[in-house]
Amino acid sequence: MAEQAAPAREWHLAARPQGWPTPADFALVEAPVRRPGPGEILVRNTALSVDPYMRGRMNDVKSYVPPFRLGEAMDGGAVGYVVASEAEGFAPGDAVLHGLGWREYATLDARAAVKVDPEAAPLSAYLGVLGMPGLTAYAGLLAVGALKEGDKVFVSGAAGAVGSLVGQIARLKGASLVVGSAGSPEKVARLVDEYGFDAAFNYKDGPVAEQLAEAAPEGIDLYFDNVGGDHLEAAIGALGVHGRAVLCGAIAQYNDTGAPAAPRNLALAIGKRLRLEGVLVSDHAALRPEFTAEVAGWLRSGELRYEETVVDGVENTVEAFLDLLRGANTGKMVVRLDG
Ligand SMILES: NC(=O)c1ccc[n+]([C@@H]2O[C@H](COP(=O)([O-])OP(=O)(O)OC[C@H]3O[C@@H](n4cnc5c(N)ncnc54)[C@H](OP(=O)(O)O)[C@@H]3O)[C@@H](O)[C@H]2O)c1
Repeated sequence: MAEQAAPAREWHLAARPQGWPTPADFALVEAPVRRPGPGEILVRNTALSVDPYMRGRMNDVKSYVPPFRLGEAMDGGAVGYVVASEAEGFAPGDAVLHGLGWREYATLDARAAVKVDPEAAPLSAYLGVLGMPGLTAYAGLLAVGALKEGDKVFVSGAAGAVGSLVGQIARLKGASLVVGSAGSPEKVARLVDEYGFDAAFNYKDGPVAEQLAEAAPEGIDLYFDNVGGDHLEAAIGALGVHGRAVLCGAIAQYNDTGAPAAPRNLALAIGKRLRLEGVLVSDHAALRPEFTAEVAGWLRSGELRYEETVVDGVENTVEAFLDLLRGANTGKMVVRLDG
């Protein structure tokens, strides 16, 4: 038999969004669940990841990740439990992390799945603090940004999955000042009160450059950019000579249809001898063992905190994704399928 008895639900991209995506760009489809063939496993997903990079995959443009195809199941990070296995080393009940999200059940080559330990952390943590966003923060700050003790650090998107870890890791590694920006007073308060940032501001309250100058009057040495635009422009202004900017994301521009207005002061990078360097998490797989050991240690000791914003039900995945773009999340946005 090639199929399970009951069909399961999966999300398809129905149309390529122009500007902000709308629910009409997506379709929740019932499809047969394929039984695993040789070397494959069948996984019941328990949590799905929605991530900002997925917005880029909805456009028909060449990028470092191929675009979603119209009328086909979308994909992305997911965790779940093996329910049937035709692959050596995988048995029903094993917890796995894999790349066939946006659906309830996934049949995949077992080589594309990684076993994870559900005792060490809740499974969804492997989509966040112990997964792709965590490694992005760790590699971006330490390998690309070359954080040094005493650095004054600014991170945008600071209450999100990547940003909240960047600020805390900077502090744990000896930064002398950690400043974050986020989009609500609640997030700003949490950054200072719970995550140990020295200062934080709401970028909606006024010009970023002015608020940054107030929070870091002596300037900054390292900027971790999740936002782009006016945030990057402000950081270029605040960086000292030989300052570094880690270009991780530009979420302020993901739904733009025109060219960005900022940064207008890029030429300052010459006189200041700035280094602006992109980070791509997929380049840093070699850091994973060190990342996992160090971050898991900080979680155990309570030195590192992480948060999740949980949306229930596969039928709410698109809303969760749109809410992520709107900033409704603190920490990692995940969709829970087993609650
Ligand atoms: N290069 C890589 O390998 C890599 C890997 C992972 C992620 N990233 C990038 O890292 C960034 C953060 O990703 P994440 O997964 O941690 O997402 P996230 O920060 O958890 O969620 C996105 C956040 O972006 C903020 N945002 C939305 N529109 C904004 C705007 N116009 N201006 C400022 N902030 C805005 C919202 O928070 P507010 O309430 O604060 O607005 C929202 O919560 C994204 O740019 C993503 O593309 C890059």
